[in-house]
Amino acid sequence: MTPPEQNENTPLPPASAAWSPSTRLTHDAAQGAHQPVVPPIYQTSLFTFASYEEMEQTVSGEQPRSIYSRGHNPTVAAFEAQVAALEGAETARATASGMAAISMAVLSQLRAGDRVVCVRDVYPDAYKMFTQLLPRFGIHTDFVDGSDTDAFIAALPGARLAYLESPTSLTFQLQDLEAITRAARQHGVTTLLDNSWATPLHQRPLSHGVDLVVHSASKYLGGHSDVVAGVVAGPHALIDRMNALEYSVLGGKLSPLEGFLLLRGLRTLPVRLAQQAAAGMQVATWLRAQPQVLAVHHPALASGIQAERFQRYFRGTSSLFSFRLGGGPLRVRGFINALKLFQLGVSWGGYESLVYPAAIGHSAPPGPNAQRDFAVPTDLIRLHVGLEDPQDLINDLQQALDAGEAAMPQP
Ligand SMILES: Cc1ncc(COP(=O)(O)O)c(C=O)c1O
Repeated sequence: MTPPEQNENTPLPPASAAWSPSTRLTHDAAQGAHQPVVPPIYQTSLFTFASYEEMEQTVSGEQPRSIYSRGHNPTVAAFEAQVAALEGAETARATASGMAAISMAVLSQLRAGDRVVCVRDVYPDAYKMFTQLLPRFGIHTDFVDGSDTDAFIAALPGARLAYLESPTSLTFQLQDLEAITRAARQHGVTTLLDNSWATPLHQRPLSHGVDLVVHSASKYLGGHSDVVAGVVAGPHALIDRMNALEYSVLGGKLSPLEGFLLLRGLRTLPVRLAQQAAAGMQVATWLRAQPQVLAVHHPALASGIQAERFQRYFRGTSSLFSFRLGGGPLRVRGFINALKLFQLGVSWGGYESLVYPAAIGHSAPPGPNAQRDFAVPTDLIRLHVGLEDPQDLINDLQQALDAGEAAMPQP
């Protein structure tokens, strides 16, 4: 018998559907007996029962409440309820990492022999899952340029799952969600989208026909670079099925302490994102005017069809983008080593500005067609703009560009 907690609907805190996200996020959970303004951390593995009858009623699902923290924990459930509300989803499931959310959601949709269509230049560990883990179970993935809607749609017939990341997190290409999800529905293909870049404040994929949304909550949702976590949001029909098998047997649950930190992070998401987005635009616009910079990949600065997609699907931007620095590897190395405020690091979405040179590693994970399916240029540099003053960041970039120039071989 499946314990009822694994089918249990995530309880929504008493909040009004009319509230805007920032109001909702400051009223984030039902308060306990002592009415603390901050919901408590239920740091417990199990929950006990007063009697045989009470346990029996709970296990049979008659009386929904927590039994064991791998299935349901009130602190984690409060975070899940917030994400579900922000995404406009029926329910959500928090996980131990973004990759746990991605792998459990993907596995919940697939059977041996299935085919997946995935966007090119996808997050590298998702790419690794599609090219190294899933083939063990006879599951094949075709990687298609997600910005080419016709090509993506042409690959859908016969597939079970379409995996989207809009924008892609290194090259920042956007997909036409409505055209793709319409075609996917016609062909019985489930769609799943990684929405970590935009956050539900700026893109709500379910409202554009996407079936399942995943997040690395380690990024903007947490916002303080102190949590690794993930979340999947969508309809009960899909999430409850994942809860009943993949989630419960793979066990990638979120800890109550991290659920608490995520609730704390979410409260300031609207203000952090607004400030970081504005600073990011200022920095990206400045970079675009520098002679050494070949191109800036920022969804809000895109042109043509990419700009149309940005207008159509996004309510705002975040502060992660990339650019290409011409002049070769010595200039890139000299530039990176000269930066003082931008710290060298892999993640993003926290309070601090970060730089990540694609050439260092993640750019070409192994795979049979890695050069084609993961064509991230080696002179690509990704920036995450944090909460520092943008003029200080621009000054830092200026002196680092000068240092990069000096590091080049002199004629
Ligand atoms: C776009 C994107 N999706 C998913 C992940 C995976 O998330 P996590 O590191 O929380 O497992 C990352 C991590 O960097 C990411 O950048």
